[in-house]
Amino acid sequence: MTFLESMKLRYTTKKYDAATKIDNEKIEELKEILHLTPSSINSQPWKFVIVSDDELKAKLANASMFNKEKINQSSHLVVLSAINDVSVFEKQIQENLPQGAVDYYNKLIKPLGEEHAKNWMARQVYISLGVLLSAAANMGIDSTPMEGIEPDKYAEILGLNGYEPLVAVALGIRDAEDFNQPELKPKSRVKKDLVLEVR
Ligand SMILES: Cc1cc2nc3c(=O)[nH]c(=O)nc-3n(C[C@H](O)[C@H](O)[C@H](O)COP(=O)(O)O)c2cc1C
Repeated sequence: MTFLESMKLRYTTKKYDAATKIDNEKIEELKEILHLTPSSINSQPWKFVIVSDDELKAKLANASMFNKEKINQSSHLVVLSAINDVSVFEKQIQENLPQGAVDYYNKLIKPLGEEHAKNWMARQVYISLGVLLSAAANMGIDSTPMEGIEPDKYAEILGLNGYEPLVAVALGIRDAEDFNQPELKPKSRVKKDLVLEVR
């Protein structure tokens, strides 16, 4: 299957087959893929928590508003968080990145203030969301990206200090009758010429 074909087939899954779990091998592959996500200055200001334990997943589902049922039915839930404590980030880059990258941060990001730095870190996390959704599609895994979560409760449940959960992704295999699949509900996008230009 081409990449374009897999993007046409991927969709936001609304109903999962609760009986089907994703193989550990595929989860290991997704871990590698997430780990390889690119980011500005290779900053990697994130934490990815992959939840397979049903009890823990149910606790998170209870803090996920209208997304509760799909999370409970899904096989795994990936929680994508950004570092939200600038001192945690500065320590991480000091210990892991070359001086040139640290200098870039100190000269171009830090002087713009803490809010700017946090926004910048959150933007990096969304790159991993795109990578994860595309990879899952390519691997034949169904997925649901979700901002409809309660970040504070997620952080408490997962014991994440210094990180802010931004978005979660349910993974699994669709229920055969899921109304949202492209075969039943054609994909909807604005017209190409509104959002795409070649100059
Ligand atoms: C960042 C982000 C957050 C989203 N949050 C939710 C959500 O909380 N619950 C949900 O059912 N869908 C959510 N969606 C799914 C979008 O509504 C969906 O991607 C969009 O309508 C396009 O449809 P498609 O993914 O089926 O192609 C989210 C998507 C993204 C990218």
